[in-house]
Amino acid sequence: MERVVSGIRPTGNLHLGNYFGAVRGFLEMQHEYDCFFFIADWHSLTTHPHPGDIVRGANTILAEYLACGLDPNKVTIYRQSDVPEVLELYLYLNMNAYLGELERTTSFKDKARQQPNNVNAGLLTYPSLMAADILIHKAVKVPVGKDQEQNMEMARRFARRFNTIYQTEYFTEPASWHFGDKAIKIPGLDGSGKMGKSEGNAIYLIDDEKTLTKKVKRAVTDGGPTEPNSTMPEPIANLFTLLKIASSEETYQHYLATYNDCSIRYGDLKAQLAADLVALTAPIRERIVELGSDQEFLNKVAREGAERARESARKTLEEVRHIIGFMPTI
Ligand code: TYM
Repeated sequence: MERVVSGIRPTGNLHLGNYFGAVRGFLEMQHEYDCFFFIADWHSLTTHPHPGDIVRGANTILAEYLACGLDPNKVTIYRQSDVPEVLELYLYLNMNAYLGELERTTSFKDKARQQPNNVNAGLLTYPSLMAADILIHKAVKVPVGKDQEQNMEMARRFARRFNTIYQTEYFTEPASWHFGDKAIKIPGLDGSGKMGKSEGNAIYLIDDEKTLTKKVKRAVTDGGPTEPNSTMPEPIANLFTLLKIASSEETYQHYLATYNDCSIRYGDLKAQLAADLVALTAPIRERIVELGSDQEFLNKVAREGAERARESARKTLEEVRHIIGFMPTI
């Protein structure tokens, strides 16, 4: 079975961007691939979280992974920090990663702008750590949202470079995988840009009906189209993007037709979108609450996942050490 790896940073609750961009793909892949899905807690250190928030954040993502439907009997679910082998591979990859290329990545430039007082080396080498996460299990497919494209390009480059330097074909270049073969970016409903935790515009899986409906109702709209078949401004196109993904094709086509003939009522569209999102998230929310109170089960899943992930990681690392030229002395 082909190997699959992906992860999510434990910086808060899962939102619709995470769900549609990543988790929905995890759920589909778990039946056909040998999947490793992890909680990227080392990656979250770039913003210097409070120690208590690290454990809490990891537990939250673990419960939410399971609540969404990941089956620990089918996939390996683990915390990145439970697999120290990743760090050794990160070191090796960093030796072949160059300052110029790391500084040029858009995510580094964005983060450096967002946190000018904390432009740390972890931010700079974020793509090497992500490559190590993927290559440690020799994954060939990585389900991610559109925003991870550049990081994925770097992972392929580091795999290729390792092979070139050591004249081997050891690593396969990992490919991005997208649900329905289409990379997606879930927008926020505040007018522009993507949905994100740090953007403050996220709709969370844990949001109750009232909160979710309020968020959708607040979505930015305009006075409505004045000419038939006019181009949608970004905030309206964003609402339609969510409708397309969360509602039925029939509903989507209905509202599109009303937009095109200028009879659309945004209030109706929002009520429909909110109802469809509630139908999707309500059962997940219920399970999150149930699982959140079963710490013993969560610990068991994380422990067993870590054991399986370490076994796979150890094997890769042993081979990588050999290729690089390290022979065990003890
Ligand atoms: P993170 O934690 O920012 O996001 C986790 C996943 O959710 C997707 N995503 C979105 N997709 C569509 N629209 C959105 N608005 C949206 N917001 C988030 C992301 O594309 C991602 O798939 N670097 C990664 C974590 C990571 C990782 C890895 C992923 C670390 N190592 C190895 C894959 C393989 C990140 O910050 O994701």
